[in-house]
Amino acid sequence: MLRRLSKEQPENFKFTKVNLNWAKAQLKKYPKGRQASAVIPLLWRAQEQEGWVSKPAIEFVANFLDMPEVRVLEVATFYFMFHLAPVGSKAHFQVCGTTPCMLRGSEDLINICKSRVNERQKSLSSDGFMSWEEVECLGGCANAPVVQIGSDYFEDLDKDSFEKLINDIEKNNTPIPGSRKGRFSSEPADMTKKYSRKKLSFENASIERFRG
Ligand code: FES
Repeated sequence: MLRRLSKEQPENFKFTKVNLNWAKAQLKKYPKGRQASAVIPLLWRAQEQEGWVSKPAIEFVANFLDMPEVRVLEVATFYFMFHLAPVGSKAHFQVCGTTPCMLRGSEDLINICKSRVNERQKSLSSDGFMSWEEVECLGGCANAPVVQIGSDYFEDLDKDSFEKLINDIEKNNTPIPGSRKGRFSSEPADMTKKYSRKKLSFENASIERFRG
């Protein structure tokens, strides 16, 4: 699939102070002269900061890593994990549409995205807060259907729980990632009681992350 940069581009890009310090620290992980190997983590950090990867961000990373801009452009356009156009400022829903999720109801989730976000994927909602796209398998098939927002997975969704997820985001409530059926990981749904102790564990970063 041909992936192009957005026609709308910001005038410039620079890392925040925290991210700049982080980027400088990354360079020390690589042998001298091999700093170009940090291109993916730096592009990812730029996306985490801005929500997407703009042309100025690509130029910034190329300059920072002392590599040709076209090499960074190749990476950004090759990997689908990089968004090449603005996404919703509150959430970009990546809805898995591959077979296990499709059999477990992902088409319902996509229809909700069409009615509540935008009829067209990769397009912003009218207020610019949300966007969505259908993606290939997210690797969480045992807890299908799955939606990814940022680096968080929301699993075992159905129409009601997905509507609630969108409501929470609209109200600026931070949804807790993980299974909507109370599963700790991918154990059978009727075994969740057995694992209830583990659910309180701080080892489960995906659940604990937003609890402060
Ligand atoms: S098919 Fe949806 S996570 Fe694998």
